[in-house]
Amino acid sequence: MKLFDVYPLYDVTPTRAKDVYVYDAQGTQYLDLYGGHAVISIGHSQEEFVSNLTTQLEQIAFYSNAVKNPLQEKLANALAEQSCLYDYQLFLCSTGAEAIENALKLASFHTNKKRVIAFKNAFHGRTSAAVSVTDNPAINAPLNAQHEVTFLPFNKTDLVAKELQKGDVCAVIFEAIQGVGGLDEPTEDFIYALEKLCQEHNACLIADEVQAGFARTGTFFAFQKYNIQPHIITMAKGMGNGFPVGGILIHPSIEARYGLLGTTFGGNHLACVAVLSVLSVLKKEQLQERAKILETHFRARAEQLPSIQKIKGRGLMLGLEFDFEVGPLRKDLIFKHHIFTGGSSNKKLIRILPPLTLKESHFDQFFEALESELNS
Ligand SMILES: Cc1ncc(COP(=O)(O)O)c(C=O)c1O
Repeated sequence: MKLFDVYPLYDVTPTRAKDVYVYDAQGTQYLDLYGGHAVISIGHSQEEFVSNLTTQLEQIAFYSNAVKNPLQEKLANALAEQSCLYDYQLFLCSTGAEAIENALKLASFHTNKKRVIAFKNAFHGRTSAAVSVTDNPAINAPLNAQHEVTFLPFNKTDLVAKELQKGDVCAVIFEAIQGVGGLDEPTEDFIYALEKLCQEHNACLIADEVQAGFARTGTFFAFQKYNIQPHIITMAKGMGNGFPVGGILIHPSIEARYGLLGTTFGGNHLACVAVLSVLSVLKKEQLQERAKILETHFRARAEQLPSIQKIKGRGLMLGLEFDFEVGPLRKDLIFKHHIFTGGSSNKKLIRILPPLTLKESHFDQFFEALESELNS
């Protein structure tokens, strides 16, 4: 049987991975500054993660959401403590797109409205409502066009106000730092205006933290740089360190009722243990603090690069923008220097999303490789 050919692949075949490194069958070591797309938070095959998952696998891996699973409550409590979002409620699912789908659906149930405001260059996933709020017509099928979505630029408060005044908007969805879009951030004033406007017009503010969440940006969630309370927060990727798990956090003003949301796999025993292990290691190794320290180191080195235009992002969600397209440079970094990096819809930007266990010396290795290519 052939694979459905939707991914343009690099000719690398990882067979094992440890901490910040990935290895192929020949034992070639690659430095992972991509984290499998911001997924590896506490390091590949981290000891506590592997041991907890192995123990859980031998006890019970899965049962449906029709019976009690105390691991879900343990996880909710640990997450409340680390995110400081004590009043929020947790619903677990399995992917980022599923988290977005549930967030939008919940906003629509709660407000009894259906139009969504999303932003230019946003990426929120591939399922139907999620892709409809993603600003990329090439990945939207005619089926997805049924959703009512208005795309606006960041930082145009008057345009958001004008749309909300029409009275039919159920949600405003935003990334505090755009991931796939290339690390642009809305201004502080705009974020506070979004919160206020959503309150005034009975619309839910959804913070998409699927990529930025779980300590990557130096705060637990990227929106927490500001003092706002979104109605719904979506999360996935780094939450499970490679175990497929996602979820939404729901403001106490939104009430649950039986059957409102549901899933077969979401919140299973293995998924809960994966997230509990991630939270435990993030705390023990103070990785949120480390992300900030590493950003400072990164910026100091990046400022000295020839032809650098902009240094973007926060913590360990970073970008280097050049005055040329970086595709060939990223290939050289992989095949000549054995370093994985990420791209984005901004073709001139290299995206850096490493495991949060990275050390300064790994960035030094990256900058030496980059300098040797830029000077060649
Ligand atoms: C901000 C954001 N939201 C949602 C998604 C979708 O997540 P998933 O690929 O797990 O469905 C992504 C994936 O890159 C993302 O970056």
